[in-house]
Amino acid sequence: MSGKKVVLTGMRTTGALHLGHYVGALDRWVHVQNTNEYECYFLLADVQALTTHADRPEMLEQSVRDVVLDWLSVGLDPSLKHVHFVQQSQVLERYELSTLFGMVAKYAEVMRDPTLKSELERLQEESIGFVYYPVDQIADIQMVDPMEQGAELLVPVGEDQLPHLELAREVVRRFNSKYGQVFTECQGLVGRVGRLVGTDGDAKMSKSIGNTINLSEELESINRKVDRMPIDPARTVRGGNKVPGDPDKAIAIVYHRALNPNVEEVVEIERLYREASVGDGDIKARLKEVFRDLLVPIQEQRAYFEKHADVRGIVLEGTEAARKACRPVVARMREQMHLKLPT
Ligand code: TRP
Repeated sequence: MSGKKVVLTGMRTTGALHLGHYVGALDRWVHVQNTNEYECYFLLADVQALTTHADRPEMLEQSVRDVVLDWLSVGLDPSLKHVHFVQQSQVLERYELSTLFGMVAKYAEVMRDPTLKSELERLQEESIGFVYYPVDQIADIQMVDPMEQGAELLVPVGEDQLPHLELAREVVRRFNSKYGQVFTECQGLVGRVGRLVGTDGDAKMSKSIGNTINLSEELESINRKVDRMPIDPARTVRGGNKVPGDPDKAIAIVYHRALNPNVEEVVEIERLYREASVGDGDIKARLKEVFRDLLVPIQEQRAYFEKHADVRGIVLEGTEAARKACRPVVARMREQMHLKLPT
């Protein structure tokens, strides 16, 4: 029997989105949306944004709008009946789920979550809400649970989120065996490119380092970053003494792999690089064109939606849809946990 199919995924609303978001997640989201097979809930995680940016409330308010516009500009389409943009803070029912999941998740298993662990190493004086966010995220995922046999709950995310999904699955299994079958175990779906390196070759794109490329970034600024991309310093093309290059060390090639739609060309670029038969300048010039072809249409869409989109209306509708889906889930969870008035 095939049951209802639901997608729930989200992003923290902490500013403009970058190419890492795009190849790591967004292009998959657009794809699942366009299959027309899933009821899709895209979560604007503004509460979770407070785990890292609590000192910048005005920026966070603006970010909700920015993320909606970025989502629209890459092709997510809440005018479709099955697509909902949900503002996390406005789904009151979700807070209740979050507290109750906190009673099922074990302290030790949350603290073992590798993504949480590495973030805790970097931060200082984090809130208790930060430590709790992997549990809170279980409430996000399960709030739109269809709670029926054969249902599918798909969570397309960047690679770094997989440990959180594993935790969600464990906690849901424990709930189901302790209190009775209620929840659907979620399934992850990772984007085309697990992790996009920064333009400086650093493993992580980070706004504070300035090695990201934003979806709404001007081409001139992007081109400057391409010019500065590290190359394999050992490689030589000049004269008769060619020294082969290692494509993995040429960041422009790493970006070609992630973004150039012409796969044969990318294979050819790598081959020529290994033979020291192509200059870094040529590879970079082509990469600038690839960026232009990808981003100009997105930026044109963005300009259009900035003028014409009813952002508030979109978020109101989507949030209402999530609340409606969440109400029976909360009721069922309370019931199974025997949280009821005395008779
Ligand atoms: N943690 C995700 C991020 O950092 C955002 C997020 C919040 C999320 N709730 C979620 C992702 C639920 C998937 C499912 O971007």
